[in-house]
Amino acid sequence: MTRPIRKAVFPVAGLGTRFLPATKAVPKEMLPVVDRPLIDYAVAEAEAAGVAHMIFVTARDKTALEDHFDRNVGLEEALEAKGKSAELERLAAIAPEGVRLSTVRQPAPLGLGHAVRCARHLVGDEPFAVILPDDLVMAQTPCLAQMAVRYAGTGGNLLAVQDVPRAHTGRYGILDAGADEARPGGLVEVRGLVEKPAPEAAPSTLSIIGRYILQPEIFQVLESGEPGAGGEIQLTDAIAALIGRQPVNGFRFEGRRFDCGDRRGWLTANVAFALDRPDLPGVRESLRDLLDPAARPENTGGAE
Ligand code: G1P
Repeated sequence: MTRPIRKAVFPVAGLGTRFLPATKAVPKEMLPVVDRPLIDYAVAEAEAAGVAHMIFVTARDKTALEDHFDRNVGLEEALEAKGKSAELERLAAIAPEGVRLSTVRQPAPLGLGHAVRCARHLVGDEPFAVILPDDLVMAQTPCLAQMAVRYAGTGGNLLAVQDVPRAHTGRYGILDAGADEARPGGLVEVRGLVEKPAPEAAPSTLSIIGRYILQPEIFQVLESGEPGAGGEIQLTDAIAALIGRQPVNGFRFEGRRFDCGDRRGWLTANVAFALDRPDLPGVRESLRDLLDPAARPENTGGAE
């Protein structure tokens, strides 16, 4: 029987340079998609998969992330005094009871593998999830919960994967793919992994997106890990070293992924999530208006 996933690691030490100046004083994981910061979606996704212990790998100037999940008694009192019960409920939903949060610092930006390694003493000797909050997935069943179900049958290491345009392989960990169930929710055998290969060198166009279920043996590999692509200690290289020793599978998740580490991806996510919010009517009309001003009622002579 596979052991359940009770812990998730969130590497949140990145500088967010692509969003400067917005991220000068605000961590990029605090950028909102509609009205919730990215980290909030990531933690909620972990929780939906049964995770009870969230481990943030942070850096300096990231205290806003911890503050977000901490109670703000002054704010609660102010809302209570004003009778704002709906707002109070929304605050209470941020950090549900029973969820534990720990933080550990990554002292220097030495790569994703290094960031995960920093959490070793908090994870201990059990399987765990890694969630990259930049990768936001819109899905009926949250991505990590889909993975947890499949993992219960496969065990080992499971990586969320999706096809990307060949021109983009240099942005991702890419699979050397074997047997492929080739359907949403299906598994792909991982024969090898390459971090950020050039399009002409990529063994496939199947890329890892930021959801992983990993076995604790990864830490042994990470301890001795040599720098890989970009001179950084890569998680992809460490997972590749486990192939043959443990099951390593790709998982074709169902849903749409937005790269919120990129301005265009983040903007698109905001539009997509806003369109999906019944409490935000009129977004579709506003968009139509922006894209086709000639169709506005005042320009066509139509009624208001
Ligand atoms: C990281 C991983 C890469 C993965 C990607 C998913 O890259 O190293 O293998 O495909 O996340 O978003 P980064 O985006 O941190 O450069």
